[in-house]
Amino acid sequence: MSDGDDERRRDLPDGGTDDVASAGDDVRADDTELDDTELDDVREGDRFTPADRVDAVAPSGIRAFFEVAESRDDVISLGVGEPDFTAPWPARSAAIASLERGRTSYTANRGTPELRRAIARHVERYDLSYDPEEEILVTTGASEAVDLAFRALVDPGDVVALPTPTYVSYAPGVTFAGGEPLPVPTYHEDDWSLTPEALRAAGADEADVLVLCYPNNPTGATMSREELSGVAEFCREHDLLVVSDEIYAALTYGDEHTSVATLPGMRERTVVINGFSKAYAMTGLRLGYALAPPTASAAMTKVHQYSMLSAPTTAQHAAAAALQRCDDEVGEMRREYDRRRRYLTARLRELGLDVAEPGGAFYAFPRVADVAPDGDDEAFATDLLRETGVAAVPGSAFGDGGAGHLRLSYATGMDELKEATRRLESYLAEH
Ligand SMILES: Cc1ncc(COP(=O)(O)O)c(C=O)c1O
Repeated sequence: MSDGDDERRRDLPDGGTDDVASAGDDVRADDTELDDTELDDVREGDRFTPADRVDAVAPSGIRAFFEVAESRDDVISLGVGEPDFTAPWPARSAAIASLERGRTSYTANRGTPELRRAIARHVERYDLSYDPEEEILVTTGASEAVDLAFRALVDPGDVVALPTPTYVSYAPGVTFAGGEPLPVPTYHEDDWSLTPEALRAAGADEADVLVLCYPNNPTGATMSREELSGVAEFCREHDLLVVSDEIYAALTYGDEHTSVATLPGMRERTVVINGFSKAYAMTGLRLGYALAPPTASAAMTKVHQYSMLSAPTTAQHAAAAALQRCDDEVGEMRREYDRRRRYLTARLRELGLDVAEPGGAFYAFPRVADVAPDGDDEAFATDLLRETGVAAVPGSAFGDGGAGHLRLSYATGMDELKEATRRLESYLAEH
C-alpha cells in the first residue's frame, strides 16, 4: 500500500533528491515473500519449533488489514506511522560526508562520544541531565532501546504495566524478555491520560515496571506535569521502575513536553527512550537512544554489546548533525503537522465523530463505535477501506483499550487528508 511510495515523501526546501521506499511503523510489505507452494516445500523439511515465549505472541493484526490495502491502487493511507518528510539535508549530508571519509567501522558500544555529548546537550531542553560516559546509550532505533530495557531489567515473571491503547511493540517485547504484560486501560473520557486510579484499578500496584509513552501512539495524548505527578507518586509509593518512551517529545503542539524523569524521585527509577525516526524523519537510519542511571545503563549496554555491538555508524554521524543543525527543520515539520492536526480534528468533529484533542505525535484517535457495524472498529476499518479506499488502523490493534476507535495518521499530505475526510464524509452519509 505504501510500498514504493516515493510521492509520499516531501523534501524540505533545501533538500536533495531521495529514492526511499517506505511503509508503516508497525507493518512492512516484503517483496521477498515465498508463494504458498514454495512455503510448503520449505515447511516439509523444517525442523524448527519457535520458542514458547515467541509462540505466545500473536502476529500483528495490522498486517492482515494492510494486505487488503496493498491489493488496491486508489488507497489513501492514514495508516502509516512514519513522517512523510525526508530527513533534513544537514543530517543526510553528514551521513554522506562520513562515508566519503571512509568512516565505515564500528563505533564505541555506547555510540560515538560526539553523538553522546550532542544528546546530553540536546536533552537539557527537557531539563534532563545525563552523563555521556555512563548514562547515555545509542541504539539501533528506539525499538532497540525498548527491547534492551525489557531484556536488561525485567526478570522472568516480572509484571510490566502497559497503559492501553498502546504502541504495538511493548507487550511482545515484555513477553520475549520473559515478563508478564499487565494492560492498564486508559479512557477517551480522560483524554487518554493515565491516572493513579486507572493504575490501581488494573492492579499495577503489584507491578515491577510501568511503561509510559507520551506523546502517545496511537492516541496522540500528552500528559502535563501535574498529571504525571500523580503517576510518579504512584510509582514511588509502589516502587515501580519506569520505561518512558518519549520518541514524540519534539512533536508536542501545546505545552512543552514534560519528561517523567524530571519529577522528584523519578530520575533514579526511569529509563528515558528517544530517537531520530519521528522528529527528524529518519526512520530508515535506525537510530535511537536510552538515558538511564549508571546501573540500568550498564546493564542495557551489556545486552547491546553482545547483540548489536554498536548502532549504525553512518546514522550516528547523521544524528549528531541532526541535533546540532536541524532545529529549524524540525520546527518546520512540527508546524506542518500541527496545521494538519487542527484540520483533521476539526473535520472529524464536523462529521460527528468524537475525538480527544491530540496534543502530540501525529495521530488522531476518533471514536467510531457509534457508527461501526456492531460497534466493531475492525469491521468499520475494513468496510471503509473496501468502499472508499481510505486506510486507517483499527483501534483494537493497540490493545483492548483501543476498541471502538480508529487511528488516523496525519503524517500524510494536506491534499490526501482533505480527500480522505471527503470520502469518509460520503461513507458516513451512506451508512
Ligand atoms: C511510540 C513508539 N516508540 C518507538 C517506535 C520505534 O521507533 P524507531 O524507529 O526509533 O525504532 C515507534 C514507531 O512507530 C513508536 O511509535
